[in-house]
Amino acid sequence: MDTIFKPANEHTILQAAALLRQGELVAFPTETVYGLGADALNEKAVAHIFAAKGRPGDNPLIVHVADKSQLDDLCEVTPDAEKLMDAFWPGPLTILLKKKPAVPDITTAGLPSVAVRCPDHPVALALLRESRVPVAAPSANRSGRPSPTTASHVYEDMNGRIAMILQGGDCRVGVESTVLDMTKDVPCILRPGAVTKEMVISVLGRCTVADSVMRPLKEGEAAPSPGMKHRHYAPRASMTVYIGNREKVIAEICRRYDEAENAVILALDGDIPSFGERHVLSIGTSPEETAHLLFKRLRETDEMGVSLVLAQGWEGEEMVLAVMNRMARAAAFDVIKL
Ligand code: TXA
Ligand code: MG
Repeated sequence: MDTIFKPANEHTILQAAALLRQGELVAFPTETVYGLGADALNEKAVAHIFAAKGRPGDNPLIVHVADKSQLDDLCEVTPDAEKLMDAFWPGPLTILLKKKPAVPDITTAGLPSVAVRCPDHPVALALLRESRVPVAAPSANRSGRPSPTTASHVYEDMNGRIAMILQGGDCRVGVESTVLDMTKDVPCILRPGAVTKEMVISVLGRCTVADSVMRPLKEGEAAPSPGMKHRHYAPRASMTVYIGNREKVIAEICRRYDEAENAVILALDGDIPSFGERHVLSIGTSPEETAHLLFKRLRETDEMGVSLVLAQGWEGEEMVLAVMNRMARAAAFDVIKL
């Protein structure tokens, strides 16, 4: 299949919307990462998403809408969920709600809940409005690869597999949306993102974070969100993340780098001079910048063919949780505190 690869504009967005209505796959930019979209109510189109990504069929998809009025047929919107939509939509918050029968089982992997989100990106919103269908869209990477934050990342993974890629520049946030379970008594974050626990508490007065967010699942433990049990965000090299005392972290990274055959360092900007002549890629100066850069850097380490990635991590709250959740998974939870 020839994949159309074009900058997003009025004309190409209409073309993409028509393809979605015909049951084809279209990748498009959002504020978090690029999505791989299909008509969420068309079982064949949704099956094609799983095939194009090589995604396990037990991992449900997020349904994207242009605004909350599109949800009536899809899920049961609770008053608390509506408050969150009014506060954070369009934006990087995905909400799990009880699904209605119109949503096919393949979209939710047979679960009784459906994940819904309204993305904060002009191209995504225009596409959702023009297509007039709810759009199921996982991140537009092949399963197991870092999520794509540029159109060329999508091209690397999806060229020849899907009908169209709309180019829309770099994604602002860079890590995927917060996934919040609103089907339980207390709202629970299953995947941390740019809408933080503190922000949910500011609206609803309560919110918890699933404790599996920062550790591997135990043998036989059920994943609260199926995506958590699959290998994720993994670079081809092995990776270790270091947190804690800054001087100790720098010294230990240098020691391991010098011992290794072919390593690269992911360093916070201010510390780059401390690594001297060693091969360093910047991960910015703030947790937000690290979120924005991380997946791009992980893809670069794949291209460079290094065998070891040594990364400086963050400690703290709010956006740090989203960044460290992705870094820890990329490192298969090899996070060392010094
Ligand atoms: O930022 C994002 O959320 C991006 C953009 C494209 O919107 N999408 C994205 O989709 O990251 P995906 O498929 O890569 O991740 C969706 C996550 C998975 O971990 C999945 O298991 C979880 O959401 N999820 C989806 N529906 C669910 C459900 N009904 N119950 C529990 N978890 C669900
Ligand atoms: Mg994904």
